[in-house]
Parts: sequence; C-alpha cells; structure tokens
Amino acid sequence: MTVQHQYPLQSLNTFGIKAHAEYFSSFSSKEELIELLGKTQKPLTILGGGSNILLTKDISGTVLKNEISEIEITHEDNDCFTVKVGGGVVWHDFVMWSIEHNLGGIENLSLIPGSVGAAPMQNIGAYGVEIKSVFQELEAVHIDNKTVKTFSNADCQFAYRYSIFKGELKEQYIICHVTFKLSKQPQFNTSYGAIEEELKAMGARKSLESVSQAVINIRQRKLPNPKDIGNSGSFFKNPTIPKAKFEQLKTQFPNIVGYPNGEQSVKIAAGWLIDHAGWKGYRKGDAGVHKNQALVLVNYGAAQGSEILSLSKNIQKSIQETFEIELEAEVNIL
Ligand code: EPU
Repeated sequence: MTVQHQYPLQSLNTFGIKAHAEYFSSFSSKEELIELLGKTQKPLTILGGGSNILLTKDISGTVLKNEISEIEITHEDNDCFTVKVGGGVVWHDFVMWSIEHNLGGIENLSLIPGSVGAAPMQNIGAYGVEIKSVFQELEAVHIDNKTVKTFSNADCQFAYRYSIFKGELKEQYIICHVTFKLSKQPQFNTSYGAIEEELKAMGARKSLESVSQAVINIRQRKLPNPKDIGNSGSFFKNPTIPKAKFEQLKTQFPNIVGYPNGEQSVKIAAGWLIDHAGWKGYRKGDAGVHKNQALVLVNYGAAQGSEILSLSKNIQKSIQETFEIELEAEVNIL
C-alpha cells in the first residue's frame, strides 16, 4: 500500500501510451482503500484494467489501482449462484471462472478487456448481452466521506455503455465489489448471427464452452490484441439517430448498417460510417485506424495520446461532414 511518486503508466493502459502519475498506489481490500483515501493527494484517478482510457497527459494527484481479487459464492438456490467478485479481478478471468463452474450468463462477454470493477461503469456489452442482465449489486466507497454504499441494479441506471457512475455520480465513488447472479441452466443468446455461424464452422454443439470459444474466435479475428497493437477496443459509441433521418441516409447510402432502437430511432454502426468515409487502415505516424474494424483506433508503438485524440477529432469531423452524424467517444479521455 505504499504511495509511489512519478509512476510510469505505460504498462497499465492498453493503448500503451507513455505518461506518468504524480502519485500511485494500489489497494487489495475496502479497508486498505479507506485508509489510503485519508492520506492521498487529490484529485484521484481510479484505474481498472486501463483498457478504456486514453492518456493525453501526465496525471496529477494520485492514480489508485484496484487489486481486490477474491471471487466468493455467497448464495445458491435452485436456478442460480450469487457470486461476489473483487473489482480488481480481470474480467475475462471471471468469465473463465464462470464457465469452469458451469454457470451461464456472461459467456458472450468473453475476452472483453478490463476489470470487474470497471465493468458496471459503462455496462459492458457484446454479442447481444450486457452485464446489466446478470448484475445484482455493487459495493462502492465514497471518495470524500469514505462510507460504503450498496447499489442495486436499478440504482445503477444502466443503459447502452452507461451507468450513473458516468453521469450524476461521476468521480464520486470507487467500485470495490460487484455481485452477479449466474444461472445453473444457461439460456444461450446466439441471436447475434456471427455466433451461430462460428458455432457451425467449429462443428460444435451449443454449450457454455463453445459459445465462449465462438466469441473468442470472432473477437480475435476482428479486434487487435493490445499485447500486439495498443488499443482500447471501440473508440466511439454507436450513435442513435431518428428513424426518419436513417431512411433519408439510406436513399443516399443503401448499405448503411443500422439496428432498430425502439420505435422512433435507429442505432447506427459507427464502424460502418468510419469505414465508408475511407478511414479504415489509415495511419499517420504511429496513430491509426485498425485494418479490420474501423471503430478501433490503434497505437502502432510510439504514438502520443494527443496524436490519437487529434485523429479521433478528424474522424468525428469527417463523419459530421459526410453523414451529419455526431460521434461520441466511448473511451474516457484523461
Ligand atoms: N462494420 C463495417 N466496417 C468496419 C466495422 C464494422 O462495415 O470497419 C459494420 C459490420 O459489418 C457490421 C456492423 O458494422 O455490420 C457492426 O460491426 P460489429 O458487429 O463488429 O460491432 P460494432 O457495432 O462495431 C459493437 C461493440 C463492440 C462489441 C461488438 C459485438 C460498441 C461501441 N461496440 O461493435 O464492443 O464487441 O458490438 O457485440 O457498441 C467495445 O466496446 O470496446 C467493443 C469492442
């Protein structure tokens, strides 16, 4: 629990950006965190897996890393196990744990980078599943008054890539533990076409292992591994536009990809927009747009955060000019 000065953050962010924290410390329990909060230099920045941030400068104040790492079964009934997980556990390790224990609900979320504590922040989701559907509650510590509060599913106000911790309660709480309800009788969600296709190609029967493996295969084909090329997954959110505007765009761009989002709006695949505007595979210096998935910005080695940020702004401008659609960053820009 020592506090270190001028701590390098390059290996702690998946974009692999060089930057320093003025002060850095980690905690392995709620009690350690509360003790740290009494003596650290503010402002605080909380680091999970570092997989959804873009560092554009050195961080003043203290960077705190959550290393609470227990996985504990707290309740069992006929259909479900309730599992309380430390915020410092690597998300994918928890998914693998759930599959080893034959518990369903998060197999579609295999290989999402990041930590368990960061997962509810933006209600992580992929292939038709969001953590909202298995989330029971979380425990968080208030940064200023150091009290512990439990938040239910409804309290978190989950929506697409959103929770109250990105809105009203932004930067007020540190998530320590997250409790999930996982099913003993998995209901497979393979509505996302690519999963069915992959299962067929694998020649596999539907099981927790095979669905997870199908997702892993798809992600490994499409998304760059941060160990090889720095990135933070999808850089932008998929924007929502009015249905009428979608119909109008469709006359001009017949192949545009959109999914109904309620009665009156459509969620557009930002990857398609960026791809169609000609950015896929673009590179300037070491900052670029991934060659297989245009929604992912990459650091080929020595890009600075400001170069990635400037590329993202150029993309936003170009999408605004081409489609009159505003793209919003999904990663947190620090
Ligand atoms: N597309 C293109 N060109 C591209 C990329 C995509 O035309 O370069 C088209 C695809 O052909 C497809 C559509 O866009 O028709 C959607 O693409 P994809 O299925 O790859 O998903 P996405 O909407 O780009 C979202 C999430 C991902 C998640 C996948 C799978 C967001 C911002 N991203 O991507 O999440 O893995 O769905 O469910 O919602 C992340 O958040 O970091 C992330 C990777």
